[in-house]
Order: sequence, then structure tokens, then C-alpha cells
Amino acid sequence: MGSLVSDFKVLQKAGTSERQEFARRYVSSIAGISPEVDANIAGLANLVLGTLPEDYSVRNTGFPTKRAIELLREKRRLAGYINQIGKQEGVVRNAVEVGTGPAAILAIATAVHHPRIEKITAIEINSRSADCARAVVELFGFGGVIDVVEGNALLLDPVETDLMVTETFDKGLVGEPGVAIVQHYREAAKRLLPDSVNLHAGLFSTDSYRQLDRAARGRSNWVNLGRVDLTGLGDHVEGALTVSDSSPSKNLYTLTTLLQGQDEVIPFYDDVITGPALIKRNVLSGLGQNDLPASLSFSYPHSTGAELTRTVSTVDFSPVAVA
Ligand SMILES: C[S@@+](CC[C@H](N)C(=O)[O-])C[C@H]1O[C@@H](n2cnc3c(N)ncnc32)[C@H](O)[C@@H]1O
Repeated sequence: MGSLVSDFKVLQKAGTSERQEFARRYVSSIAGISPEVDANIAGLANLVLGTLPEDYSVRNTGFPTKRAIELLREKRRLAGYINQIGKQEGVVRNAVEVGTGPAAILAIATAVHHPRIEKITAIEINSRSADCARAVVELFGFGGVIDVVEGNALLLDPVETDLMVTETFDKGLVGEPGVAIVQHYREAAKRLLPDSVNLHAGLFSTDSYRQLDRAARGRSNWVNLGRVDLTGLGDHVEGALTVSDSSPSKNLYTLTTLLQGQDEVIPFYDDVITGPALIKRNVLSGLGQNDLPASLSFSYPHSTGAELTRTVSTVDFSPVAVA
């Protein structure tokens, strides 16, 4: 694959099959993290920028389009999702992607990996991102397969589908509506990507995102609280840690990795999909060394949609020591 910028220009004059062939090469270059992947992703980001109307910086519902374009540069995140989309067993005749963003990249990857697919509905809440996604889908030759729908997926009836894919997670299940979206599709979709998470917690005295991120990548000082089924979660996550560290003024953070069945969608050591997220500031501040609790319980609301019934359920974790 040569220079993507010039390829994209050539593509505008190409027929459907050439466009789809280009999409195939493009998606496999991301999935395999080939040497030219950075240039390819940057090319796509620039392409999306080129499709944006002039007033794109204006605030819009949902995730800002500009930030979603930056996310396209997270090649391991994209590769993890794209490879997992390719691993779906059996025939995938139709699919839904919720939160397709301005490049509809996971919907396009689904079309590429499942050539017998008849229809993909790609839902996006941000109207500007939805407009961009439509332009990219056309350019990649999948206008006849991928239907970009603008709207809040939580307000739309979930349609029966072979596969529902969503990347709407942020930090420790806080912030974005991923849990609510998975729950929304739990009956309508035969397969959910993701269907569960591995939740981790840790106590840290730093607020530096860089340091936390480094700790996350090395998995050091994080306690794996276990697997949490996203379809069975109420509106709170609760857990307990046994504290074996006496320093005061630590903060409790959580982070999650996404799973489908036994597969970790994005390998933990490569990239952490969500987090770390600060749950409660200074959970231990104000406590003298002798007052430290032997165990620390925490509970925080994750991001369910307000439309869902607010039932509280508890996820029980075994108490574990913090390094
Ligand atoms: C983290 S971005 C991921 C974009 C793209 N799938 C990717 O992998 O690069 C999540 C997207 O979901 C959209 N979104 C969030 N909540 C949504 C909802 N309830 N319905 C539809 N789209 C939603 C946001 O506007 C944003 O574009």
C-alpha cells in the first residue's frame, strides 16, 4: 500500500469493487499493525478531517468528533477490535455497531471480515460524526451494506442481530454508556463484543495519568477483581480490597479490559482499553496509620443510561491484598 493520501484521492474515481479491495488492504494493515499502519491511520484521520463541515468545532451531542478522530491513532485498540471481529465463528449475516464514530472503522472492518454480510447498522449519536462516517463508508465502497444511522442507540429499539459491536467504554466503567449499550442488546444480539470485562483496582498516591498508565501497562500494583458480566450488571459496581499499605492519602483507581468469551479484546500488556479512573479521592486520607482499615469497600455508579431501570446489584469480589 503506497501513500494513503494519494490512494484516497485515486479512490474517489474508483468503482465499488476497487474501493472495497482498498478497504480490505487498509483494515488488514491495521489488524496486523504493519509498518505503514501509522501513516495509514494518519491518512484516514486526515481524510475524515477533510469531510468535516467548516463548523465542526461547534459542540455537538455525544463524543466530540475531533476527539474521536484522535482515537483513530490508537492502533492497538483498533487492531484488538478488528482481530476480534474477524474471529467471530459462524456466518454473520447482519451486525450493529453502536458508536461508529466519524470513520465507521469497526463497521467497515466487519464488512471486510464477513463478506457474506447483508447489512450493518452503524449508529452514531453525534450528527457531525455520523455525516463523516457516511462519507467514509461511501469512499470505501460499502454504502450498499453499511447504513449509518444518527441517533442515541439507547432510545432506539434494538434490532435482532448476529453481532453487536461497541467501543463506548472509557474509564473503569465510568463515563461512557458502554454498559447500558451492551445491556440494551443483550437479548437482541446473538453475540456481543464485548460481553464482559476484567475489572482491576489499585491504590495509588500519584495523580499523574502517565504514571498510572505506566502502572496499568505493567499490570504492577493492580489487583484483578475478576470478571464482570456486563449484561448482568445493575447500576453500581462494588468491591473490596484488603489494604496492606500504610501510606495515607492514596486514591482508589479502577481500570478495565474488555472481553468476549475467553478472549481479551485488547491484550492488557499492549494497551489498556479503559482507565485508570479515579473513583474516590483520598479514600485513606485523614486516617492515622493505626486506624487503617483492614479492608476497603468501594461502590460507584457506572454509566448506565437514565432510560434503563435503576436496579442496584452488587458484584462480590474476594478481598485481596494491594501490593
Ligand atoms: C470511543 S468512540 C469510538 C468510535 C469508533 N468506534 C472507533 O473505534 O474509533 C465512541 C463513539 O460512540 C458514540 N456514542 C456514545 N454513546 C452513544 C449512544 N448512546 N448511541 C450512539 N452513539 C453513541 C460517541 O459519540 C463516539 O463517537
